[in-house]
Amino acid sequence: MNTQTTNTAAPAVEIHGISKRFGEHLAVHPLDLEIRENEFFSILGPSGCGKTTLMRMITGFETPSSGRVHLGGADVTNVPTRNRDLNMLFQSYALFPHLTVFENVAFELRVRRVAKAEANRRAQEALELVRLGHLGDRKPDQLSGGQRQRVALARAVVSGPRVVLLDEPLGALDQQLRKEMQIELKRMQREVGITFIYVTHDQEEALTMSDRIAVMSDGVVQQVAPPEDIYNRPDTRFVAGFIGSCNLLDVSVTAGPAGEAVVVQVDGVGAARGIRAEQIEREAAGTMLVRPERIEVRRDGDGLMGVVETLTFLGEEWHAHLRVGTQVIKASISSLVKERDLPGLTAGESLRLSWRPQDARIVTR
Ligand SMILES: Nc1ncnc2c1ncn2[C@@H]1O[C@H](COP(=O)(O)OP(=O)(O)O)[C@@H](O)[C@H]1O
Ligand SMILES: [Mg+2]
Repeated sequence: MNTQTTNTAAPAVEIHGISKRFGEHLAVHPLDLEIRENEFFSILGPSGCGKTTLMRMITGFETPSSGRVHLGGADVTNVPTRNRDLNMLFQSYALFPHLTVFENVAFELRVRRVAKAEANRRAQEALELVRLGHLGDRKPDQLSGGQRQRVALARAVVSGPRVVLLDEPLGALDQQLRKEMQIELKRMQREVGITFIYVTHDQEEALTMSDRIAVMSDGVVQQVAPPEDIYNRPDTRFVAGFIGSCNLLDVSVTAGPAGEAVVVQVDGVGAARGIRAEQIEREAAGTMLVRPERIEVRRDGDGLMGVVETLTFLGEEWHAHLRVGTQVIKASISSLVKERDLPGLTAGESLRLSWRPQDARIVTR
């Protein structure tokens, strides 16, 4: 049970200057993070970038090399895991095989000596939340993988912790089941009103479920923002490249304020329009980030000249690779636009490419 004094107005989790060193290797660089009450917060990044280490420092399984962790306004840096008001759901969730599903869920309440009637009511509620209210009498080995995962989730929320941490919990499930569970997890999180911190290397999973996402690479948080901003307004080259498909064009950019439209020199292409995503103090090398679906291709008009190298049909859209100068630029063309405006388009044809300046963000990191 949580013995800390808590403040309900405070963020669910605050991290100040947390870092983790394993010998010579700095697995998590000093970072600050604030996770709000009732938020579905994801930590997204490739394998080995430090996601699990960061989670383990929040839970107390790992001692930070520097920094502080606050839960609900209270400093818990030196508080053992069992006294932190949180629960963790692992990828390999161990249910007790000899206990029924119902008793698996009620277990923690029994340990905490919650009165029997109250414990039974809460366990049944948690089972109904994960839509297994009718299977309480079964043993875990009489359930499917997805159902066992739901039991583990019911068990993680039954005691009503402030925060539930989930480390790649859907990793073992097949694609179809993963998709279903993503929607279910989001629904459950809204219903129980508990803060979820969700770790994944799967960008689609993070985009689908999260209120906000922290994108990590090499122990550094690159950007923290809602899914739409992460996708449409990436702050760094890494974020743009890791999430979805993006043209990453090397440019030279002049000094000036963030948000200002500017014409830049794109290596191997020539002059093109974009906006500075950040304030730039002096002329610098940077990257222009342009999503393929933000590129307009036409048979005439202004813009860069590009030759179609490949054209691939994907159902709802076509993917085109266009040679522009010495570069290849990816554009996606909706099937509607292709039929209506570009009938008979084939490889080898020359087209004009253009984009709105705000769809071409220029970053230096
Ligand atoms: N106990 C440990 N001892 C030494 N190195 C570790 C330990 N745990 C993790 N690491 C290293 O720290 C880095 C981050 O690991 P981890 O947090 O597990 O990444 P992720 O969960 O993003 O895949 C990796 O390079 C990993 O090898
Ligand atoms: Mg991990």
